[in-house]
Amino acid sequence: MHITARDLAALIPPGFTLGVATAAFQIEGALDEDGRGPAGWDVFSRKPGAIVEDHSPAVACDHYHRMPQDVALMKQLGVDSYRFSFAWPRIQPTGSGPANRAGLAFYDRLLDELLANGISPMATIYHWDTPLALDEAGGWMNRDTAYRLGEYAGILAEKFGDRVARWVTINEPATVSTNGYSLGLHSPGKELVLNAFPTVHHQLLGHGLAVQALRAANVPGEIGMTNVYSPMVPNSINPLDYISAGLMDLAQNRLYADPVLTGKYPDLIRAAKFFSAFDHPAEDMELISQPLDFYGLNYYMPTKVAVGPGAGAVPASMAEAMGSDLSAAGSGGTPFHVETWPEADITSYGWPVKPEYMGVALKEMAERYPNLPPVILTEGGASFEDIIVRDKSTNTRFIPDERRLKYLSDHLEAALRATAPGGDAESIDLRGYYVWSLLDNFEWSAGYNQPFGLLHVDFETQERTPKASYFWYQELIEERDLVNAAGAAIAQAAAPEVLDTEAPDDGVAPLGASA
Ligand code: BGC
Repeated sequence: MHITARDLAALIPPGFTLGVATAAFQIEGALDEDGRGPAGWDVFSRKPGAIVEDHSPAVACDHYHRMPQDVALMKQLGVDSYRFSFAWPRIQPTGSGPANRAGLAFYDRLLDELLANGISPMATIYHWDTPLALDEAGGWMNRDTAYRLGEYAGILAEKFGDRVARWVTINEPATVSTNGYSLGLHSPGKELVLNAFPTVHHQLLGHGLAVQALRAANVPGEIGMTNVYSPMVPNSINPLDYISAGLMDLAQNRLYADPVLTGKYPDLIRAAKFFSAFDHPAEDMELISQPLDFYGLNYYMPTKVAVGPGAGAVPASMAEAMGSDLSAAGSGGTPFHVETWPEADITSYGWPVKPEYMGVALKEMAERYPNLPPVILTEGGASFEDIIVRDKSTNTRFIPDERRLKYLSDHLEAALRATAPGGDAESIDLRGYYVWSLLDNFEWSAGYNQPFGLLHVDFETQERTPKASYFWYQELIEERDLVNAAGAAIAQAAAPEVLDTEAPDDGVAPLGASA
């Protein structure tokens, strides 16, 4: 069972954002339209075997053509905010130089549509769709790509700065480095294993340059970035499992969070000889650690780690769901690997469902980073195979996705309790939660086989059908609005009636005045 929507709503603090998230490449389709240039992902996804069942992102959710309808579905859902990403190759078809006006026009329409429907836009600048021309010049192995990201952010700031409420510079650099450059599971399909480390620094530098461009343009919106975070749990009391979990924590969590939040790479990482790639100008660290208005956190699951050869952070079940046997990791992989949680419920990706670790993630973040800015959970969700139940008498369809609904409810509850007064992570100022995802979509190398949506998408007809989780989220938002309305009414009733706005001349000093 899970908490009722009403009880969950009562835990939500004032001003907390409830949203939904997507990313351009996963939903838009229309890859060759209106002057969009090719992305590295376009080419990668055409390689036989790169994507499960060779699914193509060419149409995806056809959101490029169905955007107003999708915004209407968000309006009906009642969300406060929508997190989407700008497609870099639509804005700059070759990754540098002047903007493509037709590409800008799509996001102009999207932003206007959102605002007209009372939905606050949160925009991700880079969600993995690197323009092909940049990939051909080395992608994130090339320091220049960071400068290109800064330039691209400047274009977005100037054009859309007036309407974007929250900016996420980059999304999950850890996934790009690990899946894209170490193991070859994602575009650009490089299997560099530990030699992929320059991609970490260059992405973080790109983040810093993007922040600089947004600040220089004086955008009124809040600025942050998003890292994925997974608490690392030793498989047993074997000390080598503990050391393995610690190393994995360094490589997947701290490597990306420390530079941004403390201005330093972890000492152990600097000490290891293969990290000579981190020889870089000292001023890079200042750019990377500029103050942020919020820190975005994607939490999906904890990771159980054991000593013994493997492929770093990628669980075998997940690689299988992407159609890979992780052979790239080979003997050059990591001396530790991800273990399963036999007792836990698992998603279609094989991810363990462990909502209690949401609190652990937040607690660890609070302990590690005393200067943490306000936190927004920019993604969370689960892929489960859905079944469609058809009511013949009314010819309506229903999707009883109880497991996804429970996943979302339990994780949001855990986050709210951990950050409430007296909670394990009470020092964290948690400002919002975005469900991944609004729509079933192109789940990167897993194609269309891992549905995360609140809305089911029939990829033949493009019909959207709300799942039970959609109705649950809608109810939660309605309950939250009722709690807010009741709070406002009570505050108003309790407010003293103002009879006279002039200070009485009674010789008594007003409160706060110094003697
Ligand atoms: C990414 C999304 C992805 C989701 C589920 C996150 O790593 O930001 O693009 O679809 O997780 O795998």
